Amino acid sequence: MAALRTPTSRILLSSIRPARSSIAIRSYATVELNPIRKVGEAMSATQPPVSEKHTPTIQEPTKSEKAKTKTFHVYRWSPDTPTEKPKMQSYTLDLNKTGPMVLDALIRIKNEVDPTLTFRRSCREGICGSCAMNIDGVNTLACLCRIPTDTTHQTRIYPLPHTYVVKDLVPDLTQFYKQYKSIQPFLQRTTPSPDGRETRQSPADRKKLDGLYECILCACCSTSCPSYWWNSEQYLGPAVLLQSYRWLADSRDERKEERKAMLDNSMSLYRCHTILNCSRTCPKGLNPGKAIAEIKKSMAF
Ligand code: SF4
Ligand code: SF4
Ligand code: FES
Repeated sequence: MAALRTPTSRILLSSIRPARSSIAIRSYATVELNPIRKVGEAMSATQPPVSEKHTPTIQEPTKSEKAKTKTFHVYRWSPDTPTEKPKMQSYTLDLNKTGPMVLDALIRIKNEVDPTLTFRRSCREGICGSCAMNIDGVNTLACLCRIPTDTTHQTRIYPLPHTYVVKDLVPDLTQFYKQYKSIQPFLQRTTPSPDGRETRQSPADRKKLDGLYECILCACCSTSCPSYWWNSEQYLGPAVLLQSYRWLADSRDERKEERKAMLDNSMSLYRCHTILNCSRTCPKGLNPGKAIAEIKKSMAF
């Protein structure tokens, strides 16, 4: 498995705009690129989406004198009250009773403090991609993100930026999966294998898929990409393009020309301007920016 990237090498996405209601009963989480800051530096949200002054901190009951308390500010919005603006809810936990990862904190909040808090999670080990969210300005997987042990630092958790919000930390990924489906992400060939068994690859050809097959479709990269923020209806975004390259690079696939023809327009691929937020933020250490460059190269020659 690819090594994890250090968070300090990532672009920090901060400066939160007010969330607004969509035509349907969803709100719209927006986090816009600010002057680049490193993780851990003070965040100054020029327009915080909500006032935190009106949301009292929910603190777990603790009798211990040695409690190591830390406050988490979590984005909240419910479709049950669509006219209410999103707000940040503060929760204070004793880290002595909490696992090391941000997902552990969220699970404790849900199980022991506030059962209404909503988020996605499944595997708890960076495999399913469902716990992707924006933590302290970085798109990442909550199950792979350690809780900063500095208790004076208050952790801020938002849904993935520029996504419609289903509820709280749950983004609507309908468009993302629709785009994934559009690239026909499965092996396509008409030539039967000579011995009637599976179609095999040489070790060298198999190696070409390293750095591609590990993608878990968490959408951290696509939702960190400014081009995708503004053109997500037509631009496929880094995650789907990396997946597209995964099939273009597969020696067994026989639909390469058709796959390339699908990308040969001004929007699907060429909206990538090599800003590389995608590669900086990938929690699996993959490089979608490089995959996109490889597609462009193969289209050019
Ligand atoms: S390339 Fe990385 S960030 Fe993008 S969807 Fe795949 S695993 Fe997630
Ligand atoms: S390199 Fe391309 S896909 Fe990646 S963030 Fe930049 S514009 Fe988006
Ligand atoms: S819970 Fe599966 S990736 Fe985090």
